[in-house]
Amino acid sequence: MNLLDGKLVSSKIKEDIKQEAAAFLKAMGRRPHLVAILVGNDGASETYVASKMRNCELVGFESTNIHYEEDITEELLIAKIKELNADNQVDGLIVQLPLPKHIDPERITEAIDYRKDVDGFHPINLGRMQRNLPCFIPATPYGILLMLQYYGIDTAGLHAVVVGRSNIVGSPMSILLARNSSPGNCTVTLTHSRTKNIKEEVLRADIVVAAIGKKHFITADIVKEGAIIIDVGINRESSTQTKSGYKLYGDVDFEQVSSKASWITPVPGGVGLMTIVGLLKNTLDAAKGSVYS
Ligand code: GUN
Repeated sequence: MNLLDGKLVSSKIKEDIKQEAAAFLKAMGRRPHLVAILVGNDGASETYVASKMRNCELVGFESTNIHYEEDITEELLIAKIKELNADNQVDGLIVQLPLPKHIDPERITEAIDYRKDVDGFHPINLGRMQRNLPCFIPATPYGILLMLQYYGIDTAGLHAVVVGRSNIVGSPMSILLARNSSPGNCTVTLTHSRTKNIKEEVLRADIVVAAIGKKHFITADIVKEGAIIIDVGINRESSTQTKSGYKLYGDVDFEQVSSKASWITPVPGGVGLMTIVGLLKNTLDAAKGSVYS
């Protein structure tokens, strides 16, 4: 078993981003700037946004966190997004998901200028990604590709099974792995809650991307010997043993599965850290105008 070490890879790439941010500041007289909007008081979302902001500071970006109460109207939120779209001091703009039920995430996603959509969720970015055109790739799938690239893992011709079809991870991941690109060129099976024989599908996989949000869903008995295992799960359970008051569990039973896998990501210390890197890279590209000029 070889570890896909998110801690190592993310710190190396963040060092490069830090240097590029310094060069950007020198050339442009300002820092790349990410704005994150958070609505309500979901504990996990608050943690994620705080971590995004902290990492921006770490690499020398400017970051702004706009926090609204749960009851903000969709109209007010869209008005704020339009204001930020027009602000040339803002390079990247994200709205943390999930949103309260009275706000339509599709309307919010489409309100964001696709040239500032560093989450890569806008239909223009999604369509361009599918066509292999320059675009912003969603942060988690992007981070996974960067990790595979770092370790020189050749995915061409492999059978990838993606578990979970979310807009944030599973669906874009299935598109990216199928693209004529590197990493990519996989034969992809996208499985989800209505898939009949999910375990049999996973057993056929050379690469498993587990993004289903169920603690230890992937067990050793459903993994092929030598498979590459990418664990996207961040399942929080309260714990008296940690300072934070909770403990994180992956979608993969690491202890069991690691003895069968050729490569595997740990949780924590794997994909989560790479997601931040994907977001930082997109924000830098947005500032530099290297995707959309
Ligand atoms: N919620 C869970 N993951 C993400 C993400 O990558 N971006 C946003 N905006 N919300 C999320």
